[in-house]
Amino acid sequence: MYSLLFRLIFRRMDPEQAHHLAFSWIRLAARTPVLRSAVRAALAPRYAGLRTTALGLGHAGPFGLAAGFDKNALGIDGLAMLGFSHVEIGTVTAQPQPGNPRKRLFRLVRDRALINRMGFNNEGSAAVAARLGRRREIFPVVVGVNIGKTKAVPEEEAVADYVTSTERLAARADYLVVNVSSPNTPGLRNLQAVEHLRPLLSAVREAADRSVTDRRVPLLVKIAPDLADEDVDAVADLAVELGLDGIIATNTTIARDGLGLTTDKATVEEIGAGGLSGAPLKARSLQVLRRLYARVGDRITLVGVGGIETADDAWQRILAGATLVQGYSGFIYEGPRWCRKINAGLADRLARSPYATLADAVGAETRKAAA
Ligand code: FNR
Repeated sequence: MYSLLFRLIFRRMDPEQAHHLAFSWIRLAARTPVLRSAVRAALAPRYAGLRTTALGLGHAGPFGLAAGFDKNALGIDGLAMLGFSHVEIGTVTAQPQPGNPRKRLFRLVRDRALINRMGFNNEGSAAVAARLGRRREIFPVVVGVNIGKTKAVPEEEAVADYVTSTERLAARADYLVVNVSSPNTPGLRNLQAVEHLRPLLSAVREAADRSVTDRRVPLLVKIAPDLADEDVDAVADLAVELGLDGIIATNTTIARDGLGLTTDKATVEEIGAGGLSGAPLKARSLQVLRRLYARVGDRITLVGVGGIETADDAWQRILAGATLVQGYSGFIYEGPRWCRKINAGLADRLARSPYATLADAVGAETRKAAA
């Protein structure tokens, strides 16, 4: 059904327009009580074995929606209706901004990939915080808030920009993510260097603690797959040193070598700059995750994202060391039943595995490889 819809409607539309159309349908369904209950009943995770405790929070399952789909927190309950156990909203910046000129989102259908250079188009942290404050939860779901730097703010003032967003959003976030890995904001990824990252994460931690006094808001950092291995290690060590709660690996890549033989070189060149996501990102994201787990073990929660398409991919990330897994591009290609398929497949993998609980499976393969 979705593949027909995709071929007949979405694929013929501009990808960004298709996104807005599909998202508006999801939100409409979520506003219609009978419909949303029926959809939720059909699609939401109902496997006791998948219940996960991560970041001090109870999740219905390990699988969530990665940042970028719902940048302005417009449709959290609609996404929960489809079965995502957590929804990471954003990236949100301190000031509202339009993002890059269109066209800025491209499908590479045969590679099951996307290239985007959206550039953090969002309504800004004041507006998003107000919307989150007005939300009346329909379905229980963990809400992550991903923050980034306003494009117009110079790199020297980045810390203050993130702090402003933290002050506005921390109280509304089940967990907070410092995004320093989008390729579409000039200079942003320089913030991954430890000498920049240390003061940034420390300041965000302090701002979160100042703004929310009745609980400790979990803080994570999201990293790029393009970091050299030594830099991945350096971020991992810093995260442990600072007592960070988690690392999300990974964002999109600026590399194009993951593209198969299917999308011709000229097309890729014509698309130009942007972050590549989906299937071609799978191998490197997994590699980064394994490296992180080998370094930090269970001291920090790892979130695996990048090229997850199937339950097998998600299960592989869990065995590699991810307590939580996320996806975005797979949702575009697989449609509304995607999450249900992943959850059902994960429950099946767990039942057939030697592990009594999902928590036992986390990192099992990486530990075995190291032994
Ligand atoms: C993204 N991603 C992203 N990540 C982030 O931290 N902040 C953001 O605003 C966005 N925006 C965004 C827009 C679009 C159109 C895409 C496709 C992706 C990255 C996303 O969260 C994820 O890390 C990567 O897409 C890799 O996962 P998939 O897509 O391969 O499952």
